[in-house]
Amino acid sequence: MSARVILVLPTSTYRATAFLDAANVLGLDYVLASDEAPALAARMDGRVLTVDLDSVAQAAGRAATFAERRPVDAVIGVDEASVLVAAHIAQRLGVGHNPVDAVAATRDKRRMRALLAAAAVPQPRHVVIRGDARATAAADAAAAVGIPCVVKPVDLAASRGVIRANTVAELSAAVARVDALLRRPELCGEHRDPPLLVEEFVPGPEIAIEGLLIDGALTVLATFDKPDPLDGPFFAETLYVTPSRHAPATLDAAVAITRTALDALGLRDGPIHAELRLAAGGPVFLEAAARSIGGRCSSALRFLDGDTEMSLEEVILRHAVRMPLHEPRLVSGASGVLMLPVPEAGVLRAVRGVDASRKVPGVTGVELTIPPGQVIEPLPEGDRYLGFVVARGADAAFVEASLRQAQALIEVEVEDGHR
Ligand SMILES: Nc1ncnc2c1ncn2[C@@H]1O[C@H](COP(=O)(O)OP(=O)(O)O)[C@@H](O)[C@H]1O
Ligand SMILES: [Mg+2]
Repeated sequence: MSARVILVLPTSTYRATAFLDAANVLGLDYVLASDEAPALAARMDGRVLTVDLDSVAQAAGRAATFAERRPVDAVIGVDEASVLVAAHIAQRLGVGHNPVDAVAATRDKRRMRALLAAAAVPQPRHVVIRGDARATAAADAAAAVGIPCVVKPVDLAASRGVIRANTVAELSAAVARVDALLRRPELCGEHRDPPLLVEEFVPGPEIAIEGLLIDGALTVLATFDKPDPLDGPFFAETLYVTPSRHAPATLDAAVAITRTALDALGLRDGPIHAELRLAAGGPVFLEAAARSIGGRCSSALRFLDGDTEMSLEEVILRHAVRMPLHEPRLVSGASGVLMLPVPEAGVLRAVRGVDASRKVPGVTGVELTIPPGQVIEPLPEGDRYLGFVVARGADAAFVEASLRQAQALIEVEVEDGHR
């Protein structure tokens, strides 16, 4: 009998197709646990388990009832918004997973900072403030962490609500802006006082580490450079290129810090995605997530395990259901992704130049993820990408050049929603 896995996914996820494809390749029996999704359910032929992703108790209860009839071998949260529910479900079903507390710490940047501080992980100086704090709060926070600084929500992702401030006045304005975002009904709503983190801005190139934890031991699957400078005021992620071109000793130091950080958070099992800045004094840990890389970025990655080539999702699923997995390594060469940021607020009218960008040497795929006609919103409030360009080539410099060439060909037309 094939192993059965529950994939916990928010309906808005970019990650469903890649995980479903992998589950099919491996011949796994899978069930999608998601919020109400009639369209999805109709197509998935009884493989949908409707759960309330905002209620871990309800979701775990539903999954437990389901598992009484159809035993489950593994539970995977595919996205930031579902990792915590997945951890609760796994705990309830008694299948191997990260401790709930560890995953919860990745979903609350205050707890993450506190645990990392206790383990002496190098990280930005930081303070927690309330969005509607008294007028002097910005000045106090700036005095505590220094200027420039960054303000961010404690539990969002994809750079949503992350703003750099170069003066106390800018920090005040940024705090008000993030507070207003968090009070939107679909986020905290009016009635909570969302906490915010103010952090020292750490200059330097940024990298991401994609890894897999097996019994608490980290295997590094890929190290990405982010070759566009991320200097703010907003932090749209654009280019991701692997392998990293930073010095091996620098990367070793970053991996060592990541190991300490994951240990401090209590993460032991499954995929992780960590981000660090390579500052003048050494790597500084920004954050870790208990999931694989977001968006459609994983399509840039192919692994070889022995003679078997596989996707990132196959690596993750093989580990989760204890199928053979020895030493997955990136296939040779380099690859990368360009995430197309939303340029301005309004109605998306057209994305031009896609065909031309597909013909750029090295580009292996261009996918648009927002259809024309939709209202779009850029960072720091928005949380979607227009699409993804993937490239592959002999080395990272070639891949970066391909992605930049593709980017130059793509033109986005937005009709100002306010006119
Ligand atoms: N303290 C900091 N110093 C420098 N850059 C930062 C800092 N905090 C966040 N950033 C930038 O903002 C991006 C998003 O912030 P992050 O803390 O990773 O939150 P998210 O959960 O939204 O990804 C980071 O990838 C980085 O480029
Ligand atoms: Mg991040």
